Amino acid sequence: MIVTTNELFKNAYGRYAVGAYNINNLEQCVGLFRGNLGKSKTNEDPVNASGSASFIIQISRGARSYSDKRFLESMIRTADQVFPEAIFAVHLDHGTEEVCYDCIASGFYSSVMIDASHEPLDKNIEITRRIVDRAHAKGIVVEAELGQLGGVEEDVTGSVCLTEPDQAAEFVRHSGCDSLAVAIGTSHGAYKFAGSQSLHLDRLKELQAILPKGFPMVMHGSSSVPKAWVDRINNAGGKMRDTSGVNEDQYLPAAKLGVCKVNIDTDGRLVWCAVYRESFRDDPANFDLRPPGKQFMQAYADYILHKNQKLGSAGQLEGVRASLAAYK
Ligand code: G3H
Ligand code: 13P
Ligand code: ZN
Repeated sequence: MIVTTNELFKNAYGRYAVGAYNINNLEQCVGLFRGNLGKSKTNEDPVNASGSASFIIQISRGARSYSDKRFLESMIRTADQVFPEAIFAVHLDHGTEEVCYDCIASGFYSSVMIDASHEPLDKNIEITRRIVDRAHAKGIVVEAELGQLGGVEEDVTGSVCLTEPDQAAEFVRHSGCDSLAVAIGTSHGAYKFAGSQSLHLDRLKELQAILPKGFPMVMHGSSSVPKAWVDRINNAGGKMRDTSGVNEDQYLPAAKLGVCKVNIDTDGRLVWCAVYRESFRDDPANFDLRPPGKQFMQAYADYILHKNQKLGSAGQLEGVRASLAAYK
C-alpha cells in the first residue's frame, strides 16, 4: 500500500526512523520489499512480524533516467501486488523544480523532495513554496532541504555547513514544507569521514527545539559504509580506499531528536558490488546473470532487515497499519 511519507512519520516521530532506500533496478526492488517484510529467500516466505517495517522507496533523477522512469513505476506497482502486506511511500530524491512537477503530475509519487539548498534562503523558500502549493493540491507531501551537506573529502565539521536553527524555523514557516532535510555533519557517497566522526546531535537538539512540535527532520548521507563490506569488495578484486560512514548506533539517538527519515543509498551499492564480485570470483565459469542476482536479492533483504533493526523500524509494521486505519 502506497502512503505518504508524513503518514509514516506520525507513527515514527521521536521513537524510531523510517529507512529511505534508493533503488534503480528489479533486484534492488525485490530485495527491498523482502527485507522490509523480514522475508529473505523467496517472495513466498512468511512475513516475519518481529522484523517487518514500513519504508520509503527513493527514486533519484539518475534512477529515473537509467532506463526509463516508467519501468520503475510498473516494477514498484507490481511489487505492491506481489507483497500486499507492505506499507511504503514512493519519494522523489533530490528533485529539481521541473522533475518535482513531473512527479506530482504522474499520480505515482506520494512524496517529492525539492532540493534548492544551494540557493540563498529567500530563493529556496520561494521555490519550495511553489512546489508545496502544487503538491498539496494533489495530496502529495514535500521534503525540502536547508544547509549544505559536506562533499566528498570535505571537512564536514565546518559549522558553516550545518543547518542554522533560526533559519530552519523561518524556512519551515514560510515554505510550508512537510519535512526538512538538515545538515548535521553527514555527506553523500562512500567516502564520508577519514577517521571516526559523529553526528552533531547537539545541533539536532537545537533544531528540534525551535521547529514546530512533532515536525519531521530528514538525515541524508546516512550510509554506514561498513568496513566488512568494503573488505569483501577489496578481497574480491575491488579497489576501495579506507573510509567510514555514519555510526549505525547513532540512528536511534537521532530519531529520538526528531529525525524520522534516514536516507541510505551507498550501503546498498556496496552490498551489490561485493556480492557480484564474489560471485564471479568464486564461479568464473558462470555467465548466467541469475545466480548472482539471486544471491544479491537475498543479501540485500538481509541487509535491509539489519538496517531497520538499527533504525528501530523493524517490528513496527503492524503498529503503522493500525495507526493508519485509526486515522483514515
Ligand atoms: O543522494 C543521492 C543519491 O545517493 C542518489 O544517487 O543520483 O547516483 O542515483 P544517484
Ligand atoms: P548515502 O550516500 O549515505 O547512502 O546517502 C544517500 C542519500 O542521502 C540519498 O538522498
Ligand atoms: Zn541525499
